[in-house]
Amino acid sequence: MMGSKSHSSKSSSPPSSFVYFRCIPILTVLVLSLTYLFLLFVPLRHVPRGSSSRLDETQFEGDLRDVMFPWNRLCFGPTFEKLKIAAFSKTWPIGAGPGGMERHAATLYRSLAQRGHKIHVFTVPSDRKPHGDIHEGNLHVYFAANDHGSVNCSLAFEIFNGVNADGAFDYVHTESVSLPHWRAKNVPNVAVTWHGIWYEIMHSKIFQELLSDPKGVLPGSVNELQEAVPRLLDEIRFFPSYTQHICISKSAADVLVRIYQLPPRDVHVILNGVDESRFIPDTESGIHFREKHRIPRNATIVLGVAGRLVQDKGHPLLYEAFASLSWRHPGVFLLVAGSGPWARRYSELGPSVRVLGPLEPSELSGFYNAIDVFVNPTLRPQGLDLTIIEAMHCGKPVLAPNYPSISGTVVLNEGLGYTFSPNVKSFVEALESVVRDGPEKLKGKGMACKEHALGLFTATKMASAYERFFLCLKNPRYCQYPLQSDC
Ligand SMILES: *[C@@H]1O[C@H](CO)[C@@H](O)[C@H](O)[C@H]1NC(C)=O
Ligand SMILES: *[C@@H]1O[C@H](CO)[C@@H](O)[C@H](O)[C@H]1NC(C)=O
Repeated sequence: MMGSKSHSSKSSSPPSSFVYFRCIPILTVLVLSLTYLFLLFVPLRHVPRGSSSRLDETQFEGDLRDVMFPWNRLCFGPTFEKLKIAAFSKTWPIGAGPGGMERHAATLYRSLAQRGHKIHVFTVPSDRKPHGDIHEGNLHVYFAANDHGSVNCSLAFEIFNGVNADGAFDYVHTESVSLPHWRAKNVPNVAVTWHGIWYEIMHSKIFQELLSDPKGVLPGSVNELQEAVPRLLDEIRFFPSYTQHICISKSAADVLVRIYQLPPRDVHVILNGVDESRFIPDTESGIHFREKHRIPRNATIVLGVAGRLVQDKGHPLLYEAFASLSWRHPGVFLLVAGSGPWARRYSELGPSVRVLGPLEPSELSGFYNAIDVFVNPTLRPQGLDLTIIEAMHCGKPVLAPNYPSISGTVVLNEGLGYTFSPNVKSFVEALESVVRDGPEKLKGKGMACKEHALGLFTATKMASAYERFFLCLKNPRYCQYPLQSDC
């Protein structure tokens, strides 16, 4: 009211000074309507330009099946309808171990069971040893192993049919090809979550080939790359055996539509999430972890890497890049968590590297809190690495290769970390910018990472997206967004 008064009097004074008395009513109407129009558009001008695409996503209204951005962006309310879901997973985690598809599967199915859905998982123990089935409330895990310790599909289906006869499953979910396509073809209502597709693996093989044989002189080494192409073609041919497809990155969904030619309505993006209560910024535990592993107080930057220490996770690349960096910046330290053949090579790098071995789950949060930046040198541009997300939840920026799956979903911009091409030169340049930025700037980026992770990568957001997805497949009413109960 106050604003409109002052605006109308201001703008009406110049014209009224040189027109006749009679025109004044018309002018007043004109000025008032101009003011009204002006006020109508004022709110629009306050929308910051940079965030407009994000606003579009969270303010989405319509059919969820048409959404091409991550469902995690939306906020789904509670539901009273309960589902009965069968899930096929390659393994089920026994004991600790960083990352891995099995840990993701366990997090998802536990959350869905806690939400009151009946979840029946058909799988084998990750340690390949005999274990009894698990029945925890609504969660039922059946181990159906063959002699080699992998899933015996016939046996799994015998159990599946028994449970199905007891009350039909609403939907079947498989983690990648845990339920093979020739079986999936005969099961109606199968949704698959792709944790890595051959199109991405082909990319990965190209990088590995260039890295292991830069001059192209080693005989026969391109075989693996040549084998990737028929595998890719095979995938494109069999993917339609699955009814619905979930990708864990925007870039993979894009490939499924453009290269695999699946109908966009059957392709969805649900990002992986981790337990946001387990991974939180905690300065104390970080200091404690540094002391325990004798990191000197005058260390300039502490880098951390975690996971299986094998070649295709990019350890040859980090080994070489860090050797070069450490020579110029002796105050930079590297913490290496995990096990594998590269553990011994890292210990050759001298006192600025601490090889920690595999960490207990209780130590993992301390590890992330002890570092200034999390490094993921992977040569496998597949999906989302859980370790990156865990580090972000602990408020740490990340340094990772510039694969579409990473720069399109995780490290969206420089404010969240650093990206590089998977070669030593580019990696060293990125490490040099980390050192140049220093711990204070890294802390600022870490805060942005925490916020980004809370907005997308939480177990709660992931579980509620999957819940809504299965509800929508059972009853199209749930495909509408937002519902009255949504937030
Ligand atoms: C898989 O399970 C079926 C059915 O129980 C059994 O007959 C078969 O021998 C098993 N195969 C292997 C390789 O363990
Ligand atoms: C840190 O302190 C140690 C001795 O306490 C010294 O040898 C080393 O050069 C110092 N490093 C840096 C980066 O200042």
